[in-house]
Amino acid sequence: MAAIDVEKVKNDFPIFDIKVGGKPLVYLDSAATSQKPRKVINAISKYYKRYNANIHRGVYKIAEQATEEYIKSKKKVAKLVNADSGENLVYTRNTTESINMVSYTWAEQNVGSGDHILVTDMEHHSNIVPWQMLAKRKGAILDYISLNNEHSELDEESIETQLAKNPKLLAITHCSNVLGTIVDVKSITRKAHQTGAKVLVDGAQSVPHMPVDIADIGCDFLAFSGHKMLGPTGIGVLYAKHDILEESQPFLGGGDMIKTVERQDFTPNDVPWKFEAGTPNIEGGIALGVAVDYLRKIGMGSIREHEKMLTRYALEKLSGIDKVNLFGLPVERIESRGGVVPFAINGIHPHDVATIFDSEGIAIRAGHHCAMPLVVEILKEPALSRISFYLYNNERDVDAAVAAINKAKSIFKIQ
Ligand SMILES: Cc1ncc(COP(=O)(O)O)c(C=O)c1O
Repeated sequence: MAAIDVEKVKNDFPIFDIKVGGKPLVYLDSAATSQKPRKVINAISKYYKRYNANIHRGVYKIAEQATEEYIKSKKKVAKLVNADSGENLVYTRNTTESINMVSYTWAEQNVGSGDHILVTDMEHHSNIVPWQMLAKRKGAILDYISLNNEHSELDEESIETQLAKNPKLLAITHCSNVLGTIVDVKSITRKAHQTGAKVLVDGAQSVPHMPVDIADIGCDFLAFSGHKMLGPTGIGVLYAKHDILEESQPFLGGGDMIKTVERQDFTPNDVPWKFEAGTPNIEGGIALGVAVDYLRKIGMGSIREHEKMLTRYALEKLSGIDKVNLFGLPVERIESRGGVVPFAINGIHPHDVATIFDSEGIAIRAGHHCAMPLVVEILKEPALSRISFYLYNNERDVDAAVAAINKAKSIFKIQ
């Protein structure tokens, strides 16, 4: 696996030419959204400049080109996650919409009163609220797999106890956006299938950062977002097994999702188009394909190794600073940890920490990270600061973060 030449990579990202308050941008918030390489930005403008047309309908050249490029992008995305062809991929707006799509289609038809839906205490709101809404609509019961005593990974006993309730669905994150914990989704999918549950994997923090193989995991659904993997905002992906897509009712009704329409009824289109009603985000889909080309050229294995190296370096550096508390698995468990480093400094609110980082040109996230049950109820923190990595970060970025932490401590007179 080739090491990543970060300086070369950075040159591909125009945003790193900017200065923030006179300082070069240090971007440590890729778990929120990634930066975009020039090729992705150019793909969007090329579509508008050279072949802007609606897809699926036109018989003229540029419409055919747009349709071809859109379908080609799905094939690229499918290849990235080993999903055969693009046929079982639905383009959505983001992970959130992908998960909601499952709740309003397959789950709407298959979850009933008194049924159990299972999530974990590590989920993003996107993988909690749609299931709360479904539970309310259907009179179903929402259960949680709890965390171990260290609050760093799922509790094995709780997995067994909750699966013994025979849930209809297990909806589980592959990598926590708060703790960075990587869940063994392959093993838990196997266990869940033995109880008859379907499994939805939230891949928002895994697909952009490590090799993900749908066939190997064996899950029924996988949701992820283009904007976290070098693609534009407004394009997301839902993979579902073919028979599930065939059997599920459409989500939204309108153009493109039909074969025929009569005054009282309609015949839905083939999979996956029956789930893509109306004109989609054409340029977003095409640019996501270009983002995937970029990622595959670097190599998902190399990206994972690079982030592991940075996470190890950050954990070692930050653990040496007095009054800094780290969350998640220890450095010895780096194999189960993604490139996310949450921390708190005793006596300084995380928002103040993030503001001081910003004064140094460093972008980090502070808040509940859209995971209030985890951050507020379980970790009992009002908020956390979070550093997160991608292929354009290096050790110098970590050193800058360490200097900013020391600056914050000195401003707040924390010894
Ligand atoms: C684990 C996880 N799931 C879901 C989401 C939601 O992604 P989006 O806002 O792109 O829908 C995020 C975003 O941070 C996430 O980290």
